[in-house]
Amino acid sequence: MQAINASIGFDRKMWRQDIEGSLAHAAMLAHVGIISAEDEAAIRRGMAEIAQRIEAGGMEWDERLEDIHTHVEAALVALIGDAGKRLHTGRSRNDQVALDVRLWVRDAIDGLSGQITDVMRALVARAEEHAGTVMPGFTHLQPAQPVTFGHHMLAYVEMLSRDLSRFRDARARLNECPLGAAALAGTGFPVDRHMTAKALGFDGPTRNSLDSVASRDFAAEFLFACAMCATHLSRFAEEIVIWTNPYFGFVKLSDAFTTGSSIMPQKRNPDAAELVRGKTGRIFGALMGLLTVQKGLALTYFKDMQEDKEGIFDAAESLTLNLAAIAGMVRDMQPDAARLEAAAGAGFSTATDLADWLVRELKMPFRDAHHVTGRLVQKAEAKGCDLAGLSLAEMQAEEARITDAIYGVLTVQASVASRTSFGGTAPENVRRAAAEWREKLG
Ligand code: ARG
Repeated sequence: MQAINASIGFDRKMWRQDIEGSLAHAAMLAHVGIISAEDEAAIRRGMAEIAQRIEAGGMEWDERLEDIHTHVEAALVALIGDAGKRLHTGRSRNDQVALDVRLWVRDAIDGLSGQITDVMRALVARAEEHAGTVMPGFTHLQPAQPVTFGHHMLAYVEMLSRDLSRFRDARARLNECPLGAAALAGTGFPVDRHMTAKALGFDGPTRNSLDSVASRDFAAEFLFACAMCATHLSRFAEEIVIWTNPYFGFVKLSDAFTTGSSIMPQKRNPDAAELVRGKTGRIFGALMGLLTVQKGLALTYFKDMQEDKEGIFDAAESLTLNLAAIAGMVRDMQPDAARLEAAAGAGFSTATDLADWLVRELKMPFRDAHHVTGRLVQKAEAKGCDLAGLSLAEMQAEEARITDAIYGVLTVQASVASRTSFGGTAPENVRRAAAEWREKLG
């Protein structure tokens, strides 16, 4: 029973939140006259000592005491006696744990939000540096059209800004205080739930005591925000794996983010990126786990809910590592501009520019232009050259009205410079967007 029942092995991570909640509860109990001012002072002193002891690693954790709530309370009673025994008046471990988890998740959101902002800043700096660096843009991982490296960096800034706003939304929704719901029905003591809510930085108390102790949707929402952010980082990690592969050679990572092999001396493996991708799996697992834990629960509290914590902790820790690793790699990676540009021109990547020229200059309907261009691509492929390698005569054999002005749109620089539509990849757009982000991020 002890082995399956105890949560102290993991929920002691919430000791700060548990003490913070108890101090707010004690202050409120004294304020409304349920305990004396002396009792509250003793609780305050005792809790300070317990916090010090835990911080210094001097707390003895004992499975028989089940969880962090019981440990802190037992230590308090051992220190200050009866005043400690009065702390739990008008409170249950059910509202206590609901509070602690909310506080822990709220702190995690604040920490992760700061880290996301840091990654965004790093990406924006690289985007400004490489606003005009041309690289291949892909669909289906096949060469599609030239884009700029800066534009690619800013794509992730957009994704991360939505992640940030998802965390912000989750924080706003979870920011109600369950303390005072007691076991499930509320309490007959004249507690002031608005006071504790305010003291703990909440917008107000939760409005229904049953919901307060039964609900963990705030945690599931947090885990979804983690999972979505991890997905974005994982896609970036996958690109780093591809880009650092010598066959691509788009970017180099220093030894700080690669490892060698124990047998193959030439290896530089992108382990950090691989782990960012790999850890995404456990974050998904945490989300799925918590949803599943809750799906069959009648109201209100069941011990099943104790299974909420490890997934939450693990997901937050994994995402913390992933964000730190990505921030480091974004700052570390060295794009190879010459290779990127050469790759950008391969695979007839300016074929769309050629078709657009036919539309613009010859007033050809786009579908016809697409057709003519397709034949020119076939011709170049047969000849073993790129589109600019076809002579004017060879081009005119397909479409007599083509002039040598067409060669002006076949370079990758001309291609990206022409993409000036709002949100397009043109270097001037990238510079403007990066400057806006830099301003916004401070
Ligand atoms: N360790 C418990 C948990 O994490 C605390 C709440 C215990 N409440 C109870 N009625 N047994 O959920």
